[in-house]
Amino acid sequence: MEVIIQRDKDAASALVARIVANELRANPRLVLGLATGRTMESVYRMLVRLHREEHLDFSQCRTFNLDEYVGLSPSDPRSYNQFMYENLFRQVNIDLRNTHLPSGLAQDLDGECRRYETAIEDGGGIDLQLLGIGQAGHIGFNEPLSALRSRTRVKALSPATLKQNGAQFGGEDKMPRRAITMGVGTILEAHRCLLLATGESKADIIAQAVEGPITSMVSASALQLHPRCTVIVDEAAAEKLKGKEYYRWIFENEPEWEGYR
Ligand code: GLP
Repeated sequence: MEVIIQRDKDAASALVARIVANELRANPRLVLGLATGRTMESVYRMLVRLHREEHLDFSQCRTFNLDEYVGLSPSDPRSYNQFMYENLFRQVNIDLRNTHLPSGLAQDLDGECRRYETAIEDGGGIDLQLLGIGQAGHIGFNEPLSALRSRTRVKALSPATLKQNGAQFGGEDKMPRRAITMGVGTILEAHRCLLLATGESKADIIAQAVEGPITSMVSASALQLHPRCTVIVDEAAAEKLKGKEYYRWIFENEPEWEGYR
């Protein structure tokens, strides 16, 4: 794992967007794993800007999202399908046929989860997976105690998630109770992972995920097992990390980051 600390939310999001853009320029047929949530909105805003101002080309790019709520239609404004459409897909030159999210309306939800895993496999696997982190440490909707080898499946949302995301539904009681999510094992198979966390509300969980033990109680801690995972945080989210000075030293000295400093 590598940890990169940026001065604020904008700088952290811009760094994520630049890494995505560079990977996409190097491989126009990139398979991107996408995440939702407020943290990602600024990353998508910057990718849209790179598309408009620097002609960043999404025409051959393929995408797989981490998750979707069970019971919401793709046209529901609160669905992750619509989130992606509004924040990214409709604003860039991506072919919608190349974008994939699990269907929360499938009659056979287990069958839908298997179909999604197969689609990722048939697409050649995920090259670059974007991740946010929930306050209880989830990646995707892998709530506490998700098996570290889990695959795409239906998960019940935890009380912490219902609380965190309830506002978007006008109250916890009005929101779906379950979601389809890629598993921790699915995520760990991505060639490269980029986790973005900003703001003081994420400081505790980032410290646990990065410096704590690998535990299914904090799904994001499983990323310590990943051979190529970069965690990008702003100063506020980095606040509780013990190794801050060491992480800054690596970023300043590692040749890989030369063009990003
Ligand atoms: C949702 C998504 C997660 C995301 C999390 C963070 O729960 N399922 O993939 O990481 O939100 O949300 P935010 O960025 O709004 O804090």
